[in-house]
Amino acid sequence: MKVAVMPGDGIGPEVTREAVRVLEALDLPGLTLLEGDVGGIAYQRHGHPLPAETLEIARAADAILFGAVGDPACDALERSLRPEQAILGLRSELGLFANLRPATMFPGLEALSALKSEIAARIDLLIVRELNGDVYFGEKAIETLPDGRRRGRDLMSYAEDEVRRIAHVAFRAAQGRRKRLCSVDKANVLETSQLWRDVVVEVAAEYPDVALEHMYVDNAAMQLVRDPGRFDVVVTGNLFGDILSDQASMCVGSIGLLASAALGERQTAHGTFGLYEPIHGSAPDIAGKGLANPMATILSAAMMLRHSFGREDEAARIETAVSRALADGVRGHDLGGAAGTATIGEAVLERL
Ligand code: IPM
Ligand code: MG
Repeated sequence: MKVAVMPGDGIGPEVTREAVRVLEALDLPGLTLLEGDVGGIAYQRHGHPLPAETLEIARAADAILFGAVGDPACDALERSLRPEQAILGLRSELGLFANLRPATMFPGLEALSALKSEIAARIDLLIVRELNGDVYFGEKAIETLPDGRRRGRDLMSYAEDEVRRIAHVAFRAAQGRRKRLCSVDKANVLETSQLWRDVVVEVAAEYPDVALEHMYVDNAAMQLVRDPGRFDVVVTGNLFGDILSDQASMCVGSIGLLASAALGERQTAHGTFGLYEPIHGSAPDIAGKGLANPMATILSAAMMLRHSFGREDEAARIETAVSRALADGVRGHDLGGAAGTATIGEAVLERL
């Protein structure tokens, strides 16, 4: 069980530290932790946000526990040297195309949701976001036109095999849940989305037990706040998934609670190689102050135990410990409370 720990920037190191403490407390036989620099800190130390040696460590591991990247001090750097390239590079270099972002209401937190409590109470959904394609990885440029005006462009594209493989992941996930899949696109305007929709329909033939619906992304954004309980599994492209998952987090109450897994095809001894990270960013405004909620990262470690190491029992123990801590009133600053990073980590450990 080789885990590459990549704390990154801002609050990344603080929240990752607590997740590592939880992992260590489980006393798992064979757990080995390696550490790699990513993001702005890696640029400072090695001149690149994703240094070759970090990529090497990632490749040698069975799973990656990732904190966050992003540093305003790097905003002026050319894009290829900015911290975000670390996570984008890991996702693409390691073929981590399937991003699982669950959003579930924790009992007791309903009143903290941005939505009305009775609506928020019903949230139990999984966003399956494609992670290796779309406008994220298409040709991009800021160019100067012959008349002197500047123009920015980013190519949106999906090949059918890219859509097919993420569709399979989503259908299988739906089979393990309430058997409902909503594919989100913008097929009324975009050809990329039309192909997406056509391919999802083709794949659906192999999953007759799953009820498939299609929804335009603008409508999906609306339904997500109107009645999030109507969603089971949502499958969508890279850009729409990025936006909808942040939105889903506020429906649950805080972005400090949402974990994620990025999975590819490579198998490990007991599961699938993957990268696990909170969906929040580096939050430079509160970095180093011990204010960040580490729960999303702790829950990401639970996902790692489940998907990469086949340790369902320990994964569930961590999740139960987090939900008990919340039920007992442990509240980080993100949830209107006063508990700091280490206090929250401690509270989870006590309940493990
Ligand atoms: C996320 C983040 C990243 C993304 C950034 C940091 C590149 O917002 O994981 O959702 O856009 O994918
Ligand atoms: Mg995002």
